[in-house]
Amino acid sequence: VARSQLHQPVLLEEVLRLLNPQAGESYLDATAGYGGHAAAVLTQIGAEGRAVLVDRDSAATRQLERKFGERAEVRRANYVDAADDLVQDGSLFNMILLDLGVSSPQLDSAERGFSFKAVGPLDMRMDQSQSLTADVIVNSWPESNLADVIYRYGEDPAARQIAKAIVAARPVSNTVDLASVVERVARAGRMHAATRTFQALRMAVNDELAAIKQVLPKLERLLMPGGRLAVISFHSLEDRVVKDYFNRQSRDCICPPASPICNCSHRATLAKLTADAVAGDKFDANNPRARSAKLRAARKINQNKKEAKN
Ligand SMILES: C[S@@+](CC[C@H](N)C(=O)[O-])C[C@H]1O[C@@H](n2cnc3c(N)ncnc32)[C@H](O)[C@@H]1O
Repeated sequence: VARSQLHQPVLLEEVLRLLNPQAGESYLDATAGYGGHAAAVLTQIGAEGRAVLVDRDSAATRQLERKFGERAEVRRANYVDAADDLVQDGSLFNMILLDLGVSSPQLDSAERGFSFKAVGPLDMRMDQSQSLTADVIVNSWPESNLADVIYRYGEDPAARQIAKAIVAARPVSNTVDLASVVERVARAGRMHAATRTFQALRMAVNDELAAIKQVLPKLERLLMPGGRLAVISFHSLEDRVVKDYFNRQSRDCICPPASPICNCSHRATLAKLTADAVAGDKFDANNPRARSAKLRAARKINQNKKEAKN
């Protein structure tokens, strides 16, 4: 079995329950990866349904083309740009999925540099055509910027010491080298000592948090009335962005709580389909990748029907 086939889509059953695909419907997968979720949705929408599968990783889009090229439009792009293009085209979808983070094939390929378990280059780019790599950050960014990245995205309390150790060890030549530098100063808990640093570097290299903030309103625009948007995140900072966005968009008034009367003209455009996040460790317990996953979903309100407010 090829490695990529071992990739188990996270929270698949819950995603299908919330997206609720119907024959003939349209689907945008903004992070299609190796198409685990997409395969299941494509089966349910059938030959009449339209599907657009986006990923910024050319290794992923090559696989997607091979597997679904006949059935779906595959686009290699950052999902922010893909969403802009689709808005421009006037496209609308019944279902949109955003499954954030790295794919198992990315993690498992030593040469991509995402994992400290095998010797690989300090790369970590999802889009191999971009110029910023982990190497640039590790070996040339000022110590204070490096510490900020590890603190902000890795939430590692030892960020300053780690950054200092990295700068002292320059040039750091590969992933395993970096992990051993981090191990000398960071404490291992349930996770390997280098886990947070690697996650932080990956998020910085790929500018992941900024992309999520930018894309949510664009994805909302791409939903038909009654359309469903599901987002799976793997990091508390990501989940916070999604949670805040869904909370705001599902309220009719966003005046400060102290304000005696409503003077905002905000109207709810989304109805939440998940009151709380669906947690991967409960609903997909056998899938190791789902451990830190959080799934949230919302439905676009049909403004013409003046749906009940929440
Ligand atoms: C967790 S995987 C998706 C797995 C997929 N749902 C499946 O079942 O196979 C996340 C994917 O999102 C892609 N990705 C992350 N950020 C992206 C972005 N800004 N634009 C496009 N793709 C992105 C990554 O390259 C990766 O392949």
